[in-house]
Amino acid sequence: MKIQIISKKTKNLTKNEINFMNNERVKLWGKNAKINFKKEDSKGEFIFVKENKKIKSFGMMKPVKIKLNNTEYKIMGIGRGMAIEKRKGWGKILNAARILELKRKGKTGIAFTSRHNIKFFESVGYKIKKNGIKKFRYRDPKTKELIYDPEGDMIYYEDEDKLVTKLLKSKKLAITDTNFW
Ligand SMILES: CC(C)(COP(=O)(O)OP(=O)(O)OC[C@H]1O[C@@H](n2cnc3c(N)ncnc32)[C@H](O)[C@@H]1OP(=O)(O)O)[C@@H](O)C(=O)NCCC(=O)NCCS
Repeated sequence: MKIQIISKKTKNLTKNEINFMNNERVKLWGKNAKINFKKEDSKGEFIFVKENKKIKSFGMMKPVKIKLNNTEYKIMGIGRGMAIEKRKGWGKILNAARILELKRKGKTGIAFTSRHNIKFFESVGYKIKKNGIKKFRYRDPKTKELIYDPEGDMIYYEDEDKLVTKLLKSKKLAITDTNFW
């Protein structure tokens, strides 16, 4: 058994990798789940966990700017996570790699998820704020409109900027430059 963890920038994803991820998304969520990763996650990076060269899990992190109380924070938005075979530990390896990278970069990482995934994220090392998405607004760069998503739990790994601690103490909202990822 040979396990590999491979990280690559979105711009370097191959057609095979893109098709593989989209096929898995379509299997789970239907044909509207296809994503143009090179557009949506253009500045991000993907992690692939492989066994004997076969992809077992994958996920993405991308830079996101967040404004809170007139201070700008640069965090990593976490998303697109999926294990091909469930409950075999592949999701845990993927997130161990993500958290290691966040620690090395000294960055906070944030994802939004549904209630049924909370136990998983907790057991792989993140903290949880139920309904945490309500503390965020996405500012549309064209219309300047603040966009609100009413449903989503926040999972996070917090580093030295202490952004999430500050956000949860503050009455203010966090304004992101990236639509809910
Ligand atoms: C969420 C997901 C990535 C988990 O990956 P996985 O490889 O099945 O999880 P693992 O086998 O690594 O499990 C790690 C731990 O989480 C627990 N766990 C995993 N799925 C769980 C679930 N649905 N409910 C409760 N606990 C769960 C495991 O029991 C394990 O606990 P342990 O470390 O105490 O033994 C996978 O279920 C998946 O691909 N889901 C569909 C896509 C998705 O929803 N992604 C998240 C988007 S935000």
